Amino acid sequence: MSLPRTIRRVVLIGFMGAGKSTIGTMLAQSLGWDFLDVDNVIESRTGMTVTQIFAQQGEAAFRALEVEAIREHTFRESLVLALGGGAIESEATREHLAGLNRTCVLFLDAPLDVLVARCLAQPAAAERPVLADREGLMRRFQARLPYYRDAHLTIETAGLTPQAVVSRALESIGKGCAFEAAREGVPIR
Ligand code: S3P
Repeated sequence: MSLPRTIRRVVLIGFMGAGKSTIGTMLAQSLGWDFLDVDNVIESRTGMTVTQIFAQQGEAAFRALEVEAIREHTFRESLVLALGGGAIESEATREHLAGLNRTCVLFLDAPLDVLVARCLAQPAAAERPVLADREGLMRRFQARLPYYRDAHLTIETAGLTPQAVVSRALESIGKGCAFEAAREGVPIR
């Protein structure tokens, strides 16, 4: 993927524990943009948690909801959007992301052991369906890596504070392209 000259949205990708929600919230705040987490969009829409959807309807049903939610929300402007870790496995989603204008896809990278440790440190660790499947974790991680690496930009997050990751994100996006405000009153960086 080649970075657009101006961007109006940032899409964060990466495995569970990459920090997509934390970094996304802070990045959006720095830009004066909105932040959305696709998992939260799905939960609000269905009135169920991601864990409940996996348990009651199966992973395939969750993936279908995920593809739909991503399609609907990637047209918003002045937006930082965090995708779920497995969203990128969908070919439809990959093609959709590649076809978006004025969008920077940013991969938050870290080694698998760091990611797992971060997830386990979170209170809701036991509820993560994909984390519970320890044997499948490495397989999923390896299968997704080539797709994550296809992002416009990658930031290695291990050992960095969230603030440092946000600073790097602003710097590396800003080097390649300009942030473009879609609304009046939003400062153009
Ligand atoms: C998943 C990651 C989760 C969530 C679901 C499946 C995955 O999102 O979408 O539990 O397949 O890796 P986060 O990456 O935001 O934790």
